[in-house]
Amino acid sequence: MLEAASDGAGPQVGERVVFLSLGARGWAQRRAVPHAFTAAAPSNAAWEHLATLPVPATTALRALRKLGSTLGRRVLIVGATSAVGRIAVQLAGRSGAHVAAVARDESRHAELQRLGAHETHAALSSVASRVHGAIDRVGGQDLVDTYALLEPGATVIALGHSAGADERFPYDAFVAGPTTSDRSITSFFLGSEPGLADEMAYLAADRRLQVGVIDTRAWTELATWIEHGAHRPSGRVVLRVIHAQSSD
Ligand SMILES: NC(=O)c1ccc[n+]([C@@H]2O[C@H](COP(=O)([O-])OP(=O)(O)OC[C@H]3O[C@@H](n4cnc5c(N)ncnc54)[C@H](OP(=O)(O)O)[C@@H]3O)[C@@H](O)[C@H]2O)c1
Repeated sequence: MLEAASDGAGPQVGERVVFLSLGARGWAQRRAVPHAFTAAAPSNAAWEHLATLPVPATTALRALRKLGSTLGRRVLIVGATSAVGRIAVQLAGRSGAHVAAVARDESRHAELQRLGAHETHAALSSVASRVHGAIDRVGGQDLVDTYALLEPGATVIALGHSAGADERFPYDAFVAGPTTSDRSITSFFLGSEPGLADEMAYLAADRRLQVGVIDTRAWTELATWIEHGAHRPSGRVVLRVIHAQSSD
């Protein structure tokens, strides 16, 4: 932290911080961040961890909370190889849920199992039992199929749309009966969630949480990387800025 907020609230100069970068465009060596989206970070956490964790981790945590208690209940994570999906698998597992993870890339299922998934599927068609709640990062047909897997009273949190496709529900999708009543789909937007700072501090301090592969490059490589298509094989790219006054 280079300069504290003018009202004195939030982290102070010299503190290591983690912050949520919402709606940001472009890159800069310094930036102003609202202290509502800023929290103290542990001194022993890697910069790459602090740079990549906040958005997926707070998203996953808040989305899971919306499902209520998951202890001993089946929770479905669709798009589980995404950063949000991976963290959701880890947090749901720790919350005592039976975690069913769906990821199209079967070569990453073992990794999801290590993170806490009790069952892994390449497609929703092989998910045999219905679920108490679901988090869907993919959208399109996956959202339609996820909704069909909900128990009565269950909810699917739609928070990503990687499929880039329409959701077309069959004629009877919303016909309620004893086994299909009170099911819902809800949208989610992290930027509308209040009071995230404490959770960011909690998540940043948790060194077991894994966002995924992190590809670290010098910020001076940015232009070349974009020129070559800004390829992200799977995971995050962190561009390190060298500060004039800092040794980092
Ligand atoms: N609503 C909110 O508040 C909120 C918060 C955070 C994120 N998001 C959304 O999530 C996005 C980033 O999430 P993230 O960082 O977790 O994702 P990410 O780490 O970039 O991962 C992308 C995921 O999408 C999957 N995917 C891509 N194209 C697909 C397709 N056509 N069909 C099925 N799966 C596909 C990938 O699967 P493979 O591994 O198989 O390629 C991977 O699991 C943002 O753009 C935003 O839309 C929303």
